Amino acid sequence: MTSTVVVGGFFGDEGKGKVISYLAIKDNPKIIVRGGAGPNAGHTIRDGDKVYKVRMLPSGFLNKNASVMIGPGVTVNPDVLLKEIQDFGASGRSFVDKHCGIIENDHLIRDSKGDLKDKIGSTGSGTGPANADRAMRTLKLAKDFTSLSSLITDVPEQINNALLNGHHVLIEGTQGTFLSLWHGTYPFVTSKDVTASGICADVGIGPKKVDDVIVVFKSYVTRVGTGPLTKELTPEETESKGWSEFGTVTGRQRRAADFDFDLARRAIMLNSATQIAITKLDVIFPDCAGVTTFDKLSVPAKAFITNIEKELCTPVTIIGTGPAVFDIIDRRA
Ligand code: IMP
Ligand code: MG
Repeated sequence: MTSTVVVGGFFGDEGKGKVISYLAIKDNPKIIVRGGAGPNAGHTIRDGDKVYKVRMLPSGFLNKNASVMIGPGVTVNPDVLLKEIQDFGASGRSFVDKHCGIIENDHLIRDSKGDLKDKIGSTGSGTGPANADRAMRTLKLAKDFTSLSSLITDVPEQINNALLNGHHVLIEGTQGTFLSLWHGTYPFVTSKDVTASGICADVGIGPKKVDDVIVVFKSYVTRVGTGPLTKELTPEETESKGWSEFGTVTGRQRRAADFDFDLARRAIMLNSATQIAITKLDVIFPDCAGVTTFDKLSVPAKAFITNIEKELCTPVTIIGTGPAVFDIIDRRA
């Protein structure tokens, strides 16, 4: 059995979607299962000239041989999920746990006004209010919705059985370590713990069944919404570095800063990382665009990676060098 958990090391938008879609094709897991908060997440995946923006489906859906599942800890917006299954050709292999909480209209309304919108800068996706109702034990669950009946399964049983039978399972996190309700920059955080332990609880896998934890860092830090960002650059500086980005879910401009070793070190600790993935190396070293072997990186790019390994005492095994799924250097044995 092998299981790999992939989580974000900063504030989300580290490029997990691209890393996960690569691993989903390369490692050919039997199941790709998503933990995390809910449709507040946005992952962008580029396959040839097609660009997919997913909010509910696991980012590993490009591997048509794998089942994609959503764990019981994740809140689900049925409209968003059903549309993504249709649009992205994932019917017949997409499943939700019977205990997933369901986002309804009232949650969307509550999330788009008041402090959640103005102070926290929430995504307005209804995720926070739905999780609040879950804590109040009033949230409805997926098993009570006819529109989801053909998708319902027991996700913890499925993934633990797959592992028992020697298959590979890929567990994908959403958001990032410092958006965790427990470990992040409270109150400017999301409504769940989104570190590796929380993601494992979301999908129903125990701590002793996890083989690898890959923490994904972007080559620089971005944050969308409010909350502290150490050494934040001005919008002009961000623009001049070519780091301007816009949120997948909300379209808001992301704030930016240099790679932050203090945050990264803490993320390694909180997630018990065994490996690091670094994304968007080509954005800070344009001569690395599309490179697929470490040897072919420029000297400063290699130094950037080896310095991260030295500072964080953890191997950088995956390096993103462009937006396409296979713009990757894979240094795993
Ligand atoms: P909520 O999760 O929609 O309640 O938003 C709370 C905070 O987390 C806001 O600052 C959001 O911008 C941020 N956030 C939530 N999900 C993501 C994500 O997937 N990527 C980046 N930021 C996120
Ligand atoms: Mg995102």
